[in-house]
Amino acid sequence: MAKMAKHIALVGKGGVGKTTLTTMICRYLEENDKGIVLAVDADPNANLNEALGMEFSSCISDVIEDTKRPHAVPDGMSKERYVEYRLQDALIEGDKNLDMLIMGGPQGPGCYCYANDLLRGYIERLEKNYDYLVMDSEAGMEHISRRTVQDVDVMFIVSDASARGVRTITRIYDLVKNLKTKVKSVYAIVTKASEETINDLQEELEKTGVEFAGFIPFDPQVFEYDAKGKPLYELPEDAPVVKASYAIFDKIKL
Ligand SMILES: Nc1ncnc2c1ncn2[C@@H]1O[C@H](COP(=O)(O)OP(=O)(O)OP(=O)(O)O)[C@@H](O)[C@H]1O
Ligand SMILES: [Mg+2]
Repeated sequence: MAKMAKHIALVGKGGVGKTTLTTMICRYLEENDKGIVLAVDADPNANLNEALGMEFSSCISDVIEDTKRPHAVPDGMSKERYVEYRLQDALIEGDKNLDMLIMGGPQGPGCYCYANDLLRGYIERLEKNYDYLVMDSEAGMEHISRRTVQDVDVMFIVSDASARGVRTITRIYDLVKNLKTKVKSVYAIVTKASEETINDLQEELEKTGVEFAGFIPFDPQVFEYDAKGKPLYELPEDAPVVKASYAIFDKIKL
């Protein structure tokens, strides 16, 4: 039977630390020799490549848009073949055991069922080359609900350390439960937190009904790296954000 990559998805509202955590997952999998990883940036405001320290080449939405130009498809080639061929341009190959796809901006008006079907098929074939598919998503979970990526094995709902943020976990979890996509395990992670704030949030966390995997402390280095445009992938190994994320991934046996 063909190999299926383990699917990990990160969701949560804007600015909570999804991209930071996605980066930590990719690095954790690399350092622990877990296999070959395909990182997928499914956030329209893509910046995962910067966090991972990878060059941007092109994104899926641009490629799809481009194939819609009149006369885009060369004579004698079917449209399917051509789109598939062009989609390969959007694969960013890294020097580590890590490649990347950037979904890109929301698509313009019109029906995209056709493009989505092709994209879904492409990802299905592509992921046979990988052990993990790690998707940095957004709160709307567009690509998960459209099933661009099939079932999710591990989903992290990420929140900041506020009561309002934690209540958003419940809202996102409700959306997840209503998806056609099967999601096997769901965990909550609270970021930019401390023991003290987690204590205060205990009751709210229990109310979400989502298993709490742990918290990530506020780490000024993350902010500093982001401000300087330095890849978060290169944070020192003793950085609090690295240590805390690795402890969580060990605990849940990612
Ligand atoms: N543990 C942390 N400590 C301190 N700052 C953090 C931490 N995690 C994230 N940040 C900062 O918070 C901001 C948002 O982080 P990040 O980009 O990872 O979140 P996001 O959920 O992917 O955001 P977006 O929805 O905009 O894509 C960044 O400025 C980042 O530097
Ligand atoms: Mg992000």
